[in-house]
Amino acid sequence: MKFHAPEYVRRLAPYQAGKPIGELAREYGLDEASIVKLASNENPLGMPDSARTAMLAAAADLGRYPDANGFELKAAIAARYRVPADWVTLGNGSNDILELAAHAFLQPGESAIYSQYSFAVYALATQAVGARAIVVPACDYGHDLDAMLAAIGDDTRLVFIANPNNPTGTFLSAERIAQFIARVPERIVIVLDEAYNEYLEPQLRFDSTEWLRDRPNLLISRTLSKAYGLAGLRVGFGLAQPELTDLLNRIRQPFNVNSIAQAAAVAALADDAFLAKSFALNRAGLEQMQRGFADLGLQFIPSYGNFVLVRVGDAAAVYEGLLRAGVIVRPVGGYGLPEWLRISVGLPEENARLLEALAPLVGRR
Ligand SMILES: Cc1ncc(COP(=O)(O)O)c(C=O)c1O
Repeated sequence: MKFHAPEYVRRLAPYQAGKPIGELAREYGLDEASIVKLASNENPLGMPDSARTAMLAAAADLGRYPDANGFELKAAIAARYRVPADWVTLGNGSNDILELAAHAFLQPGESAIYSQYSFAVYALATQAVGARAIVVPACDYGHDLDAMLAAIGDDTRLVFIANPNNPTGTFLSAERIAQFIARVPERIVIVLDEAYNEYLEPQLRFDSTEWLRDRPNLLISRTLSKAYGLAGLRVGFGLAQPELTDLLNRIRQPFNVNSIAQAAAVAALADDAFLAKSFALNRAGLEQMQRGFADLGLQFIPSYGNFVLVRVGDAAAVYEGLLRAGVIVRPVGGYGLPEWLRISVGLPEENARLLEALAPLVGRR
């Protein structure tokens, strides 16, 4: 090859996204309308009407660049999460925030820590900047925080925690995270990724932003892709003290969140009714799915997110069988879980379709 690229870039394996509906329709000659996609932890309700209206208004004039500073969106986030606006970093999805953190705090010769079976982007972001990954073995499919603390070395700069975790759906209590944060040296940045926070039962929720005031090394990452229903628009944000926020903003693309996305996000953040509906639908769907898996005699990890990790045996074959039945789920062999599938919660009828299609493939009915 004529041109040079760092070896760590050449060794990167690109992120495997869930199969798009159009692709399955083309490959298997299926009608798009008949396909059920439970592969990317999206909101089965689609986007909120409030956001659609705001988006259409913003779409009337796209001749100008977006507000690079995202004034209105930052103000809406600041009000909702009770932090000053200069503690907010906007991201093109929260994926962007994770990458900004890796770019800002890691370089070759340094390390990042994350858990086995934790979100794939932590590995990608770490490798993309040539840093070393310290992958700490999971405990019961979740984070082993004591082992993560013990893994910290002189060259460690970043720790990623997903709570709830994707793809396993496990959850860490406020108490355990608070203890962990208190024991991590302040020179190390902790990324607390709360992409699925809005799906937690009220009694499990806690205000992690309270820790920000005492912890200049804490970066909380949130998204509007899940419960807020805006995955296709790509809006996420980071919350941290100004010094950390300032570093992220030095490397952030100035227009990383487009005008339509900013307008839709402001509306979605104010739409409590949609959020409540998303939560209720997910709670019922989780119950339906987990009950269905239990009836099929399948092992699953009780989930705190909007998806369930279920053990089906030969997951590649079951995945293929489900595709033929017009149901897209997510294989997780790449996570080292070749016997499992991750299945997002859908509408009640979509969950029923999945369970019906799954039964014969796992030797039932
Ligand atoms: C744990 C976790 N963090 C972050 C993300 C990124 O989501 P987005 O970039 O859409 O905000 C996801 C998406 O699935 C996720 O599961």
